[in-house]
Amino acid sequence: MGRFLNKVLNIETVYTFNDLILLPGKAEVEPKEIELKTKVSKNRWINLPFVSSPMDTVTGSDLAVALAREGGIGILHRNCSVEEQVEMARKVKRAESTIIRDVIVVKPDTTVSEAIEIMNSYDIHGLPVVENGRKLVGIVTWRDVRYSDRQLKIKDVMTPRERLIVATTEVSIDEAKRLMQKHKVEKLPIVNNKWELKGLITIKDLELRGQYPMASRDEEGRLLVGAAISPFDLERAKKLEKYVDILVVDVAHFHNENVIRATKKLVKEVSAEVIAGNLGTKEAVLETLTRIEDIAGLRVGMGSGSICTTGVVTKVAAPTLYATLQAAEALDELGLHGEIPIIADGGIKNTGDIALALAMGASAAMMGNLFAGTKESPGRLIAIQGKYYKEYYGMGSARARSKRANLDRYSKPSKDIDEGVEGWVPYRGTVKDVVKELTGGLQASMGYVGAKNIPELWEKARFGYIPPNGSQEIRPHDILIPKGGTN
Ligand code: XMP
Repeated sequence: MGRFLNKVLNIETVYTFNDLILLPGKAEVEPKEIELKTKVSKNRWINLPFVSSPMDTVTGSDLAVALAREGGIGILHRNCSVEEQVEMARKVKRAESTIIRDVIVVKPDTTVSEAIEIMNSYDIHGLPVVENGRKLVGIVTWRDVRYSDRQLKIKDVMTPRERLIVATTEVSIDEAKRLMQKHKVEKLPIVNNKWELKGLITIKDLELRGQYPMASRDEEGRLLVGAAISPFDLERAKKLEKYVDILVVDVAHFHNENVIRATKKLVKEVSAEVIAGNLGTKEAVLETLTRIEDIAGLRVGMGSGSICTTGVVTKVAAPTLYATLQAAEALDELGLHGEIPIIADGGIKNTGDIALALAMGASAAMMGNLFAGTKESPGRLIAIQGKYYKEYYGMGSARARSKRANLDRYSKPSKDIDEGVEGWVPYRGTVKDVVKELTGGLQASMGYVGAKNIPELWEKARFGYIPPNGSQEIRPHDILIPKGGTN
């Protein structure tokens, strides 16, 4: 038999989200009790398996904050300058925390006018006053500056050290809360025995903790966040690592000698966890994990994205469900499944697709389209014939490529083609609304399968193949649906 005929006889079946269903199994708990906590990297857990795509119409700081508060995690896009991306990350980390470490401070000689400017630009209402580096000498709040002469110095309007309520580094959250309530203060500076400022606790942060019990947080109570990077831009990675929990190597085809080499070097230089992607085959995952130690996660799927034209233009793709299966097989072979999480990325249209990806071995699902439609995404909102839409485009589209910073994902100098399209997605309300819908749907799927949590879903899930003709039967049919309904 000739080698080409042999290739044809060995053609693989590549299943996509539209081809498979999950078969029912015995349920032992009700859907609401199903636990969705999962790993997003080797050492980081999130409460819901939802990750937002690093795209400039999807994940900026607002969406990352909103998604982490609900229990997922956002990956900040990199289609901007390093400074802008770092600023987005700082914003997420500053959104709330048990103890703020990265405290914005002023000096006694700062003018009231400058302090007001700082408060406005960071949207904060109190600033510790320090001299000689970190020595605390007072605190100035919005109330102190609001009606003061703008030329006065902060030392003339601040609450001086003698009248400050402070706590030491050993203070517990409950004690801090009691102190603030007793003395009716909203900010509690944390100092060591030399009066050096070590942090700040605010009543607002403590209240937010209660308001978002599902939030994905780090050890200091700050929201978890990730950032996309190029493997060839070590400088960006170094600047970001201080503010993010995970770095996601964001290239369209990770299985590339130069990318692997550069990532191997990068992983050694940064302390944040690094996720590799995008990967599509078992060989790619095996090579990645054997050549690069300390890869903390895998982002898989090539060509399934709703804005993606890679599969059309190049006829090369590893659809997300297939890529997930390939990665799960590779991890199983290495005895690492469950240890290193798989993030299934691209083509997810609804909760059923998320359930399929998780059942196939993924730990979390990455979504662009579904989150692009939310209020918090950075894209523009427009109305077309009485309906609202938000702008959404692929990172390989002409539109995104025209913003130079993105060039290395889809357009190395040798690439002259667009691999994404530009358009609009229906407005879906807030991230909270979308997450609520996704959570309910996913719990229902897992309930039917009979899985109490994601690892149990990996064990219990059984798949069925629906031939093209059959797909009509498992969606509404033989009924007239009013315009706008699902069909
Ligand atoms: P969804 O289906 O959620 O997919 O919109 C989002 C994912 O699509 C990938 N992506 C692209 N793929 N050309 C591509 O081939 C592009 O222009 C493009 N932009 C984004 C990316 O993996 C994202 O998470």
